[in-house]
Amino acid sequence: MRREIGHGFAPDSELVRVRDAGELPQLGLDLPQYGHFDVTAITRYDDVRELLGSGDVVMGPSSEAQTSGTLANIPGYFIYYDGPEHARIRRMVSRWFTVKNIQRLRPRIEEIVNESLDSFEALGGAGDFFSQFALHVPTRVICEILGIPFEDSGDFQQWTLDILSLSSATETAISAVAALRAYLRERVVVAKATAAARDDLISALITENEGEITDEEIVGIAMFVLIAGHETTANAITVGTLALLEHPDQAAAVRDDDSVVRTAIEELLRYLSLAVGVHRLVARDTTIAGRDFSVGERITFSLLAANNDPALVGDLPELDISRKPVPHVGFGFGIHQCLGQHLARLELTVAIPAVLRRFPNLRVTVPAAEIEFRRDAPIYGVASLPVAW
Ligand code: HEM
Repeated sequence: MRREIGHGFAPDSELVRVRDAGELPQLGLDLPQYGHFDVTAITRYDDVRELLGSGDVVMGPSSEAQTSGTLANIPGYFIYYDGPEHARIRRMVSRWFTVKNIQRLRPRIEEIVNESLDSFEALGGAGDFFSQFALHVPTRVICEILGIPFEDSGDFQQWTLDILSLSSATETAISAVAALRAYLRERVVVAKATAAARDDLISALITENEGEITDEEIVGIAMFVLIAGHETTANAITVGTLALLEHPDQAAAVRDDDSVVRTAIEELLRYLSLAVGVHRLVARDTTIAGRDFSVGERITFSLLAANNDPALVGDLPELDISRKPVPHVGFGFGIHQCLGQHLARLELTVAIPAVLRRFPNLRVTVPAAEIEFRRDAPIYGVASLPVAW
């Protein structure tokens, strides 16, 4: 279920082989905070959509007893919810993430991108694109959305890394979960005192859902939005820029022609397929690709394989920003499909062309084979990206 080492983006040859042969390989999956699981991998585009879009699968770990203190047991952490409880929370949050509401953030996101580029440029002629530029943009945006101080971001970025990294010790992850919840509890107390006068998500959850939501649920929702909202987009800005630098003609088009940016970002989201940890538990006996699945079996989905499937992109899976946008599954599919997708698209649409315009000679300063891709997190990305301009 990997990408080709040394290339960084394409699905590896074994993944392509099993998909094209219609095989459903059995894998052993080690999730340190949850244990070892035997899973079946679904890789074909049609099968991914059919199964994720059906009611036959549910979120896995939360439906079983789990190590206390891990993510699975947190009220409001709704990606792990199923059925009506999931729908109830998702409805409350989705009001905030509509296209219209997100579009009104555009001028502020442009300012944030420009200020972050100013600080990056002030480093002189070189720096780490990921930590010194890309991470700043979505972190500042998500802080403003939630109404929490950007000055605290050093703390919650570290907690997020400790929580998400598959290489974290269980105790480290559990204490990071506790620290982040305690921090957000304080923010909810602060927001409650002034919610009516504020325009952020935490305040909206408080004022719009009185009597229908507990404070602990608000903490859990804020926690997931915070975690989902900064690492993901920071990685997308970084590897999206990297992918374009590897295709200089396409980078030039994005830099010079506003009219191609929207389709270019959609194609990047397909090509990069950043989300890796999409797992489910079979809740109803079902048949997929000729194989019978029984209740309790575990499934993992390769969005990367699906987004490169000839059924979606013919024989041309390579990056092509002139491709007419295809209905890719880079944001997942079904009831858990990414709630932050309009925000992610907007941030990428503003940030990537701005980077290419500010630094027309941007280049990576380590050989491609030495770029350190992260393989220990649910979002694919790099540990750092040394660049010069
Ligand atoms: C390029 C950036 C992003 C990518 C690739 C991405 C990808 C995904 C994927 C694949 C899922 C579904 C996971 C599953 O089905 O198991 C998901 C869910 C979610 N994402 Fe994103 N995401 C991104 C950015 C964001 C941002 C910026 C936010 C919020 C501010 C966000 C909030 C969420 C939420 C709340 C869910 C859970 C929805 C639910 O369970 O109903 N995401 N994301």
